[in-house]
Amino acid sequence: MNPQVMSFYDPATFTFTYVVYEREGGHAAVVDPVLDYNPASARTSTVSADRVLQFVQAKRLTVDWILETHAHADHLTAAAYLKRATGAKVAIGRGITQVQERFKVLFGLEPEFATDGSQFDRLFADGEEFAIGGLQASVLATPGHTDDSLTYVIGDAAFVGDTVFAPETGTARADFPGGDAGKLYHSIRKLFELPAETRLFLCHDYPPDGRAAHAQSSLADQQQRNVHVGGNADEQSFVKMRTERDANLAAPKLILPALQVNIRAGELPPPDANGIRYLRLPLNQLGGAK
Ligand SMILES: [Fe+2]
Repeated sequence: MNPQVMSFYDPATFTFTYVVYEREGGHAAVVDPVLDYNPASARTSTVSADRVLQFVQAKRLTVDWILETHAHADHLTAAAYLKRATGAKVAIGRGITQVQERFKVLFGLEPEFATDGSQFDRLFADGEEFAIGGLQASVLATPGHTDDSLTYVIGDAAFVGDTVFAPETGTARADFPGGDAGKLYHSIRKLFELPAETRLFLCHDYPPDGRAAHAQSSLADQQQRNVHVGGNADEQSFVKMRTERDANLAAPKLILPALQVNIRAGELPPPDANGIRYLRLPLNQLGGAK
């Protein structure tokens, strides 16, 4: 059975959130939900997540899963908020434990912060299968952008995270800690082996001037037209191109707040003695900021 897919675009972070569902009144999963965040005031809000909830309510869906394709660096996840609202389980790839270890050190987190992924309800490994009501879902490890990156294949729909972007914008950066351009190349080749009719749903779109944001592309479109990996692009030239480009990219605007919340499955850090929650800013640690 193939799912119905509803997309929600957040223009502030260029992110797509998806509701993937059987049918009206059926079971559903939410993929990569956004928690709105204003960096100037350090204020979170749930306008985007509430839009997803309104859709879920209007379609009378039972949300079984909140699926993260990876620990995002460009937006905060609304997974914890949506879990409270729906009772769904939050899942991410097993590689999150490495991400937690790395960033626990960078952020100097509290000693009790666990790096075993226990903040999430389920850690998926490559090849694992699960169900969303009558929909069959499977997990494809697609590391490269980050080492915890997964693609969720649900019927004929593949939620690829930041593995590929729209054909004319190419691929995601691979220079975050744990990123690897060679692995990204092989992950994309793995996606290219999916059945020809597979619909690819992207985590982001950065539309060139004058075109609307595209959530979806076909496998053939990516294979033929992707400016970084289409045609017969070979690994060596891809890695060279990706590495040179990444060296000139600034750090994503929300990387520091986003990772601190996202490695906690969307929970904010525990409050200080005064009851206020704080984020930490490691000074002079990130590279590439131009
Ligand atoms: Fe990402």
